[in-house]
Amino acid sequence: MEPYTAAEDRYEQIQYRRCGKSGIKLPLLSLGLWHNFGNTTSFENSRQLLRTAFDNGITHFDLANNYGPPYGSAEINFGKIFKEDFLSYRDELLISTKAGWDMWPGPYGNFGSRKYLIASLDQSLQRMGLDYVDIFYHHRPDPATPLEETMGALDQIVRQGKALYVGVSQYSAGQTAKAAEILRNLGTPFIIHQPRYNMFDRWVEDGLLNTLEQEGLGSIVFSPLEQGILTSKYLDGIPKDSRAAIEGGYLDQNKITPQVLKQVKDLNHMAENRNQTLAQMAIAWLLKDHRVTSVLVGVSKVSQLKDNIEGLQNLQFSKDEITRIESILKKE
Ligand SMILES: NC(=O)c1ccc[n+]([C@@H]2O[C@H](COP(=O)([O-])OP(=O)(O)OC[C@H]3O[C@@H](n4cnc5c(N)ncnc54)[C@H](OP(=O)(O)O)[C@@H]3O)[C@@H](O)[C@H]2O)c1
Repeated sequence: MEPYTAAEDRYEQIQYRRCGKSGIKLPLLSLGLWHNFGNTTSFENSRQLLRTAFDNGITHFDLANNYGPPYGSAEINFGKIFKEDFLSYRDELLISTKAGWDMWPGPYGNFGSRKYLIASLDQSLQRMGLDYVDIFYHHRPDPATPLEETMGALDQIVRQGKALYVGVSQYSAGQTAKAAEILRNLGTPFIIHQPRYNMFDRWVEDGLLNTLEQEGLGSIVFSPLEQGILTSKYLDGIPKDSRAAIEGGYLDQNKITPQVLKQVKDLNHMAENRNQTLAQMAIAWLLKDHRVTSVLVGVSKVSQLKDNIEGLQNLQFSKDEITRIESILKKE
């Protein structure tokens, strides 16, 4: 493949939003490496996805220790691509990783102990060939470890210079407020929450978004397309190259019920009337809330990424459209 030079007009392609009350701005769309960067997918495709993202001003790439498969391989593959294509752009990039889910065997490779988090980030940095990440997240709440211990580990990681900022993922509103208080007292730069949020999964509207605003935190929302269900791809069955076709994968085909498909069909019709694809409309719908700093998409194809970026041209919704979407989503 040709050596990479980033598109000169990359910063004219996308808008940025400030992440809470921090000094950092995130692109409206960020790229997640959960799928399509492990060893079971094409390395060249992964590389094209990262190049296309950055060429369009997507400065933020989101990883985790266990992205693959196998676990760790997304960070390794990202590291290879980073070294060849992005080394000279390091200061233009925000790279994040996380720990909190099962990563290695035994009692120290899961959840939220200081031991796990600090060792895991050291491993992640080694796999990616980085000196530091921009954001390090605790990936999910740990019911057994004192929050003070987990937050203390995040604080130490920043003081070690291994992360510039920290975040949490999947924490409830109450857990987030408590974490914010601990980190404020420690003086740790806690700037972001990564929750799941899409038209079919709206738990964040029930308190979390308010808490984030009160605490001055930004949000980057994951699975914005419900892993692909909020696109037109499943309307005529399960395509062979889709996520739902991956055996033993994370998208259970049983989630794609006739009722869900009926809603998707109605939403798709609305998107067509807006001259958008459903993926574009679903992303715009999330961004209409200023408390959403960035929408974190996964893509398996460059064409999908381009589609999602193009959709940012129309983020406006009329009152009628909002009402219509609500009524489609209410149908059980
Ligand atoms: N913090 C956490 O606990 C957590 C959990 C999950 C994810 N995440 C983060 O969030 C990122 C995104 O999650 P996700 O992959 O579930 O997001 P998603 O954007 O809801 O789903 C991605 C899938 O949607 C399909 N897609 C995307 N754009 C499309 C388009 N324009 N047209 C048609 N299909 C399109 C593709 O499916 P096909 O593969 O079928 O083509 C793609 O793989 C992850 O990579 C990760 O960084 C975080």
